[in-house]
Amino acid sequence: MNIEKLKKEWFPLFNSKELKGKPLAKTLLGFKLVFVRIDNEVTCFEDRCPHRNVPLSKGSIVNSQLRCNYHGWSFDKTGELKNIPGCKNCNSIKIQAISTKEIDRIVWVRLEGDKEFYNNFLFSEIYSSTTNFKHLKADFVHSIENFLDPTHTPFIHRGLLRSENGQSMSVTQESDEHGFKTYYKLNNMQNGLINKLFDSGIDENIASCNFPGFAKIDYLKNNKLLFRVSVFFVPINKGEVQMVVNVSLLKTFVPSFLKFILLRPFLELAFYQDKKILESQYKENIFFKKSYEIVDSDLVINHLLHMFYDKPTGKNKVMDIEL
Ligand code: FES
Ligand SMILES: [Fe+2]
Repeated sequence: MNIEKLKKEWFPLFNSKELKGKPLAKTLLGFKLVFVRIDNEVTCFEDRCPHRNVPLSKGSIVNSQLRCNYHGWSFDKTGELKNIPGCKNCNSIKIQAISTKEIDRIVWVRLEGDKEFYNNFLFSEIYSSTTNFKHLKADFVHSIENFLDPTHTPFIHRGLLRSENGQSMSVTQESDEHGFKTYYKLNNMQNGLINKLFDSGIDENIASCNFPGFAKIDYLKNNKLLFRVSVFFVPINKGEVQMVVNVSLLKTFVPSFLKFILLRPFLELAFYQDKKILESQYKENIFFKKSYEIVDSDLVINHLLHMFYDKPTGKNKVMDIEL
């Protein structure tokens, strides 16, 4: 993967409530980080004390400073070294603070550069939303592929998202330098249990993905958006992916919290089914180390390989498919 490109992007890393009075260790793109909350501001550094390289996340916060647990070096929230026990005229040292933002109870991080922050989850007020963090021991690109590509649904989610009776749809796709979008016009209603219970005649799905890993599926009826599932895929480490999942529903007379409570077990089951197959796929891929076949009905993989591995541009599909 093109890690240098990804380092310049903002990623949602954890729920604010995880960060209280103690340093918190996290990893992004294989880089070990430490987060602290000092004077109610979130600050991030590389998780390494410059003195003897022990993790600063093993230290503590004392008098608004991050204190290393080994010899007590203490840093303020800008990274400036404020105290070296036993040393009066030591050189001043500063560790570099890494950019963070705390927005709607999510802490976002950008490892390098000055790219402006953009909150992908921001959405219209006529929808209510809920956000969850999920973890997979899986491949980054194949996790995004799994979310966006519908051809696995009659098998992995049989009965839940689609029944055995076929479903036909017309597919068109568009792409630009930021990502790609696939329109699915459903020729008959989506026919899984989840749809029978919760959707009232969804006739179109629009699935999109933008660099560096924000994917969403919109569910529409007569061009009106009823339901959206957005996932920010975060590359934590090789073979480790975090999904920040946001589900949004159009507000109606039925209170949204009630709908979320009812919907949750079904979404959890769908996630569990995907997690199981993605984790076994990752293990086998490591074992076999072989390339795989890409066929015409694989709708998104070429776009993803272009986006994350700088492979040739993916071809936009226009086709009818029968699932
Ligand atoms: S290793 Fe951190 S103070 Fe010595
Ligand atoms: Fe799935």
